Amino acid sequence: MKNENLKKKYQEKIKLLVKYNKYYYENNSPLIDDNEYDSLKIEILDLEKKNSFLKSKDSPSKTVGFKPSKNFAKINHKVPMLSLSNAFDKNDLENFQKKIINFLNFKNENQLFEYSTEPKIDGISASLLYKNGKFVKGLSRGDGKTGEDITKNLFTIKDIPKVIEDNNFPKEIDIRGEVFIEKNDFKLLREKFANPRNAASGSLRQKNPEETKKIPLRFIAYTYGYSEKMRIKTQTEFLKYLNTWGFKTNKFNKKITGIENLIKNHQYLEQKRNEIDFDIDGVVYKIDDFKLQERLGFVANAPRWAIAHKFSANSSISIIKNIEIQIGRTGALTPVAKINPVNIGGVMVSNATLHNEDEINRKDIRVGDTVVVERAGDVIPHVISVDKKKRKADSKKYIFPEKCPCGFKVIKDYNKITKKFDAVKRCPDRGFECEKMAKEKIKHFVSKDALNIDGLGKKVVENFWSLNLIRLPQDLFKLDFNKIENLEGWGKQSALNLKYSINKSKEISLEKLIYSLGIRHIGQENAKLISQNIQTLDNLCKISDKYNFNTFLNIDGIGETQINSLKKFFSNNINLEIIKELKKFIIIKKSNLKITGKLKNKTFIFTGKLDTMSRAEAKSLIEKNSGKILSNVNKKLDYLIIGEKPTTKKVLKAKELNIKVISQAEFLKLLN
Ligand code: IVH
Repeated sequence: MKNENLKKKYQEKIKLLVKYNKYYYENNSPLIDDNEYDSLKIEILDLEKKNSFLKSKDSPSKTVGFKPSKNFAKINHKVPMLSLSNAFDKNDLENFQKKIINFLNFKNENQLFEYSTEPKIDGISASLLYKNGKFVKGLSRGDGKTGEDITKNLFTIKDIPKVIEDNNFPKEIDIRGEVFIEKNDFKLLREKFANPRNAASGSLRQKNPEETKKIPLRFIAYTYGYSEKMRIKTQTEFLKYLNTWGFKTNKFNKKITGIENLIKNHQYLEQKRNEIDFDIDGVVYKIDDFKLQERLGFVANAPRWAIAHKFSANSSISIIKNIEIQIGRTGALTPVAKINPVNIGGVMVSNATLHNEDEINRKDIRVGDTVVVERAGDVIPHVISVDKKKRKADSKKYIFPEKCPCGFKVIKDYNKITKKFDAVKRCPDRGFECEKMAKEKIKHFVSKDALNIDGLGKKVVENFWSLNLIRLPQDLFKLDFNKIENLEGWGKQSALNLKYSINKSKEISLEKLIYSLGIRHIGQENAKLISQNIQTLDNLCKISDKYNFNTFLNIDGIGETQINSLKKFFSNNINLEIIKELKKFIIIKKSNLKITGKLKNKTFIFTGKLDTMSRAEAKSLIEKNSGKILSNVNKKLDYLIIGEKPTTKKVLKAKELNIKVISQAEFLKLLN
């Protein structure tokens, strides 16, 4: 064929490909099937290979679909992506419902609720932003607050409608659901991934959308995040709308009334579990009525109105080769059984936790024992029972160590409330003086919810530690990257990347910094509370000398345990030195939370019983509107809300201090 003709033929094919891409990616209505599409691509590549003068910017050798992005941009979710609390049995469900009844102050303890029940798909959640009916942005869950921009990868999923034309579809809405792989499709990916969930996550969060496109990912929608003008009144109604908008929903979704019926449905699905095309690990129950959902709101990072009723775990039999002791960040000694690797529900397991000394004694677990190991969802595999008939005559009882590898005698905490010693043995919290703990503390310091240093995973920390490069958190900011570049497994680029992420991590919110210090009993929620109340790092440091602990006592949610732990932390000289050093590198980000609620800067106390809502609901209402609850009547108080049978002392004190004393109705008026 003459060059001219060849060129024409080539350009025609390119034109076709561009058109198919447009229909596939933008209109979500592919004109041809995947095989045809692939052969067209191959033809084009073939022509190019044989005739080097054939070139086009739209060639599949250059860019088909999307240009692979180097890194995913991080984007804040307009409404956080939450997780769910778990229930394992009837008792858990009853407690869940009781809490709802109490929170809503319903008089009837046996109130029946309608639930939307939805099989819990074991995949990866994603949030899809639609503007004016067009899919414009797709995010992974990330840390719940900030997700990764994986729009291009999500675009390749056929189940995701790209354009929605329906007058009822909100002008702006985040549709949320699960990305997953069907069990059948997973068979081809077995060599690369341990289970369908990993395969879904791996394919969705890699950088080249062309690669994602090759994986048959699916999407099932089940909720929404931000939405403009939501007129729909119930979850079950919402699920129906999702269908009319072109989303797939789970065919086993069902509206169910009452706990007894929830359990029947759970049993039915658990039996059917293996016949379903994709992995499910439980059933999600959601209070159906959106109004009630709104009243109920959230605790920490899970809604009060929903729960995941998990299926019982998968288990396998194996043999304990050895029992090792791991030292955690807070000094807890955790015994771990090293077992002969077994496949449990698609995952190879070679470690199983034995929890603590009491657990080992109770079950009389020994090295050499044949055991049943269970793995449920995200829970760490654990030993559930020992087959004593298989035990050899010379087997010996396991003796729990009395010392931490750092040489210190281990201790057990005394619990004042239960008047018992804890089951967990720990290295007395000597902070960074215990080598094992120090390493774990550094791992925590750099972890995702703390400084979030990309490329500094657990293995790298171990490696840097063994090379004597790090001993304390501040050492991370003094690393010599010329040295790192020459380490085995490193190079110029990876050293540069690490340098970049370490530099990036220096700017951090106070809340995250407090959390990253790994103070015992100070998790993310408490760190947030503390940062909101003390506001500056200097104040935090002052705790060491004369900082008034009453400030802390007044923080709702911070109790004696937390305060004692803070005191201990800040009386340790190494910890103080760490903070002093960190201050040289760290820049505290100003909180970007604008306080805007109707009760901004207003403080409240209740006395007496409220009649139309529970204390908890009233408290959450105040907090939702940026108000604060105080614990005792003092000059800082703005309102004392009185219900039935108030405490006279409080009322008198409030009057004496000229504080407004209001009824429940007046309180509601403040919120109109
Ligand atoms: S609702 C606030 N519905 O479970 C509501 N989640 O542990 C939170 N999941 O991250 C999500 N099926 O990945 C919801 N029908 C369903 C679900 C579901 C699976 C996953 C989701 C979420 C996790 C929560």
